[in-house]
Amino acid sequence: MQHLLSVDDINEKFILDLWERASDQKDNFSSSLKNKILTNLFYEPSTRTSSSFYSAMVRQGGSVIPINNVKFSSAIKGESLEDTIITMGTMSDCIVLRHPEIGSVSRAAKVSSVPVINAGDGKGEHPTQTLLDGFTIFYNNKEKIDNLRITMVGDLKNGRTVKSLVKLLSRYSGNHFNFVSPPDLRLPKDLLPKNSFQTEKIEEVISDTDVLYVTRVQSERGSNHQYSLSLDQLNLLPRKSIVMHPLPRVNEIPRAFDNDPRAKYFDQMLYGLWCRMVLLENVMS
Ligand code: NCD
Repeated sequence: MQHLLSVDDINEKFILDLWERASDQKDNFSSSLKNKILTNLFYEPSTRTSSSFYSAMVRQGGSVIPINNVKFSSAIKGESLEDTIITMGTMSDCIVLRHPEIGSVSRAAKVSSVPVINAGDGKGEHPTQTLLDGFTIFYNNKEKIDNLRITMVGDLKNGRTVKSLVKLLSRYSGNHFNFVSPPDLRLPKDLLPKNSFQTEKIEEVISDTDVLYVTRVQSERGSNHQYSLSLDQLNLLPRKSIVMHPLPRVNEIPRAFDNDPRAKYFDQMLYGLWCRMVLLENVMS
């Protein structure tokens, strides 16, 4: 049984195979997951991730038990995460789990009789977002993911998508990272790759960027900054660069940039659906 708890659980071969199959999913409605049931167990809010797994499952003929609001589940009666996982393992073939605590997914995997997929564990990781983020770069960069200048902006301390993506991108040679944030929202030191530069000023790095990855301030995790990039700043980006954001967006990117050909943040959602279709098929069929 293969759990997906961290980017560390998947190797380059697995990822490349998934990306190569992902774009074939464009108009794919199959029955490869017929008679399979997925549990979506979300202890934190989600729009994209839970719906993306839901859609990926249904498009392949499977069904979903959606537990999106644990207020209406037995957790509110005091049931432990472990007992809920054992319960859902008897009723489904895979559990997608989002939970506010780092390490929750490992606790779940220890007792689960079915594969567990981490859909975000607090400030920890978000490996399926990384699969789609990596695919976005791969797909828009002639199937290459090395020798890039990557600029990451925002709440790098508390954002889990950044942490998983940095882990993935630092495996490929020649990637250089610029991290732009206020000093108190910097990426934790143990995650800083060798080839990286930290600054508070986007102007220092934006014109030397292939991939701009913008994130929101995680106010629910105690951050209280506000920031937004202006159109003037974004227009300093090279013409061939791409702009990504895991979403939800608050004010980080002005809506006036949405139709710019460099803006890929809405495309990312479609890529996420394709990547999750392949992932679920790998895990369950
Ligand atoms: C992200 C998350 O939940 O970590 N959202 C997502 O899954 N696309 C990013 C965020 O909430 O800021």
